[in-house]
Amino acid sequence: MNETATLWWDTGTESICYIDQTLLPENYTIVECRSIGQLATAIKRLEIRGAPALGVAGAYGIALAARVCQKNDLHAFFADVHKDAEILRATRPTAINLGWGIDRVLSKILPVQDIPSARRIALAEAEAVTREDTACCHTIGEHGAVLLPNSCTVLTHCNAGSLACSSWGTALGVIRSAVNGGKQVNVIACETRPLLQGSRLTAWELIRDGIDVTVITDSSAAHLMRTGTIDAVIVGADRITRDAVFNKIGTYMHAVCARYHDIPFYVAAPLSTFDTQKSERDVIIEERDREEVTTMGCRVYVPDAAVVKNYAFDATPMNLVTAIITEQGVLHPPISIDSILSFKSTK
Ligand code: MRU
Repeated sequence: MNETATLWWDTGTESICYIDQTLLPENYTIVECRSIGQLATAIKRLEIRGAPALGVAGAYGIALAARVCQKNDLHAFFADVHKDAEILRATRPTAINLGWGIDRVLSKILPVQDIPSARRIALAEAEAVTREDTACCHTIGEHGAVLLPNSCTVLTHCNAGSLACSSWGTALGVIRSAVNGGKQVNVIACETRPLLQGSRLTAWELIRDGIDVTVITDSSAAHLMRTGTIDAVIVGADRITRDAVFNKIGTYMHAVCARYHDIPFYVAAPLSTFDTQKSERDVIIEERDREEVTTMGCRVYVPDAAVVKNYAFDATPMNLVTAIITEQGVLHPPISIDSILSFKSTK
């Protein structure tokens, strides 16, 4: 299996390097990011994407902000770093890990009394976030692999693979670990309209690892569930509130359909994706530009006068979730605020 990093700190150039996910599968391009403006644009454009990868990007973002800040006065330095943190935080509202990664590094450097130490500590903490994310993904993979039959077909939506994390992946981490353990897993990757994270990224990752993958249009999923082709659905998550799982738009329809056809619907996510303070109604669902829906390449597929709604995520109510696979173990129903809190506190 390929254990490729998605983004990392380059000590030579003092920059964040990342695989530009908008160019895959045609081009594998590593970009050097040297400013907060560049990082914010990369996140908005989904050059870097996926909840855990956004957490890592937020953490490295604070290390970068501390690195590039020219101020010599400690108060002015922290004011600049905070301003940059808010620029990054505002880029994508739904995935909780972005703010989580930013706040984790900020909280480490705020008590520090000199700028060189703040820079050093910020980078060390961002590196720790990255290492922990990789370890989490492997543990999620091991916990989840046990749930899969020895030979099975798994449907996944969007990309919850190594590209969406520091490496390995959450939903795809489960599949990778199952395959590593000798199970035969065929993956059905929904293409994931409109930006095709499933067909471009999930299929690319799995083919590199020699795992069987078939790409379908999102609207084919119900048909395959009805005809008995799918044994399980596994998706990642952008935020798990006390009552719902937020993930890529289209996830909810898979959950409804899976329940109707008695197919297990699993969510694989680290505990950093849980937001137990919030309910579904408190979360902003990101809406993106109409051009992502209306155009493909140079062609326009929607009349100019038509209204377009381009939701990036939807919410799946907790009662449709068969289990949540985390690095600490598997959370089974009834999944409620009490079970989430006691699960988190006992770990
Ligand atoms: O808009 P994206 O591509 O960032 O959306 C990503 C997803 O919805 C993923 O499923 C989610 O972040 C989990 S990634 C492990």
